[in-house]
This record gives sequence, structure tokens and C-alpha cells, in this order.
Amino acid sequence: MTKRLNLKEHISSKEKKQTYVNQMFETIAPRYDFITVFLSYGMDRGWKRKLVDMINLQGDESALDLACGTGDITFSLAERLPAGQAVGLDITQGMLVIAEQKRSERNAANVAFHRADIMSLPFESESFDCITCGYALRNVPDVAGALEEIKRILKPGGRFLSLDFAHPGNKIYRWLYLRYLVVVGSTLGFVLHGDPDTYRYIPESLKLYPGQHGVRELMNKAGFLDTGVIEFGGGIMAINHGTKPEL
Ligand SMILES: C[S@@+](CC[C@H](N)C(=O)[O-])C[C@H]1O[C@@H](n2cnc3c(N)ncnc32)[C@H](O)[C@@H]1O
Repeated sequence: MTKRLNLKEHISSKEKKQTYVNQMFETIAPRYDFITVFLSYGMDRGWKRKLVDMINLQGDESALDLACGTGDITFSLAERLPAGQAVGLDITQGMLVIAEQKRSERNAANVAFHRADIMSLPFESESFDCITCGYALRNVPDVAGALEEIKRILKPGGRFLSLDFAHPGNKIYRWLYLRYLVVVGSTLGFVLHGDPDTYRYIPESLKLYPGQHGVRELMNKAGFLDTGVIEFGGGIMAINHGTKPEL
């Protein structure tokens, strides 16, 4: 049996966080699609649709979906790229097995999946017209480093969009929201995996995450242009977006 890692010790350390994240996502991969719908009351689909709508894809472009998981966003991108390609990338083998199954069931010829780490992307500089992330930046050990990597492989003028849990501006609402995530996450983790920490990771990682406005600042520092934030549900969820400068 795999040894359970200590949640707080690991996710507060740049060196140890990825080990925790990898073990957790390998554990939840078979139930990931169900959990996402359950925890978001089905709203996740609408947030992802909004993200893909915002990109305004041209049909022959190339799109990369980082931390693609089981491929929801990757397949939506591919549907809008009849003459282009959508690539999904994730570090967790279990997620990619499910994504690959879906790919063959849908016969999606313009989709490819890769197993790799966002912190060190296996692509040449200036490879993609657009890059998306769904619930990815909160999971990496170094958000600024990930943004540098993302900017490197975007083409000049390329668009970047990231959907993630966010920090509500109202302090009382924020406290209630975190408590809600702790209670529901702990219960679900215990019922499904015998380990309350499995989904308590969400509120704990959110506390350490710079949030939608912090990510916007980091994007500005990394040199993205026209950065912006769109919030949902009073700031429980947000999309960060920006563009790599033209040459
Ligand atoms: C919450 S899931 C999101 C999946 C998908 N984007 C979605 O929106 O449904 C987070 C994903 O991030 C992946 N991940 C975490 N750290 C990563 C890293 N350093 N590089 C690539 N993928 C990573 C996990 O394997 C997991 O599949």
C-alpha cells in the first residue's frame, strides 16, 4: 500500500508539493469526472465553456491544454479546430489513460496527449497559438516559473487563459467558502478514499495560491499584455487571461 503523505508539510514546500500532487491525482483519476461535476454542482461545464469561448479560436490554429486531466477542455478546443490541432498535457498517467480512451471513442484525429510536467514543457519556443489551463496553476510548485514556461512556448500574439478556484473579495464570504470546501472535501475524501485529506487539498492549496489578482500581477511581471480577470459566483472561481507581445 502507498504511504500517505502529510498534506500541509508537502504542499507548503516547493520541493515536496509535486510529489503530493502526483500521488493525489493518481488516486482520484478514475473518479475525477464524477467528482468535478459533483463538487461544482455541474457548473464546471459552464466555466470551461466560457474559457473556450473567450479564446475566439481560428479553425486552423494550434492549442495546448495544460494539466488536461481527462481532457474536457482539450476536446472542446479540438471541436473548434477543424483544420488545426489540440494537444493535452498532464503529469498523471491515470488521467491520460482516461483521456486516451475518450479520444479513441470519439475518433478525435486532431487531438494528441502527452505526459509531461508544466514546469519543463517538451515543446520548442513559439509553438502554440493559444494555451489553456483548467485548475492547473494552483497545483504547480512555482506559479511564476510555470508562467515563464507558458510564455516561452506561445507564439508572439498568442493567448493564454487559466480557469481556477479563486479568492472571493468579501472576507466573510471567503471564510465561509473555505469552510464549506473543508467540510465537503473532508467528507467526500473519507467516503470515497478513506482519507479526508484527498479533497481537503483544494482549500489548503487555495490558501497558498496567489489568487486571481496575484496571478494577474505575476502575468504582468512575466510580460503578458492585456491581462484581465473574469470572476464567477462572487469570486469563488475565475479566469485569468493575457497575451504574449507581438515581436
Ligand atoms: C484538477 S485537475 C484538472 C484537470 C482538467 N484540466 C480539468 O479542468 O478537468 C488538475 C490536473 O493537473 C495535473 N497536474 C498537476 N501538476 C502538474 C504538472 N506539474 N504538470 C502537468 N500536469 C500537472 C494533474 O495531474 C491533474 O490532472
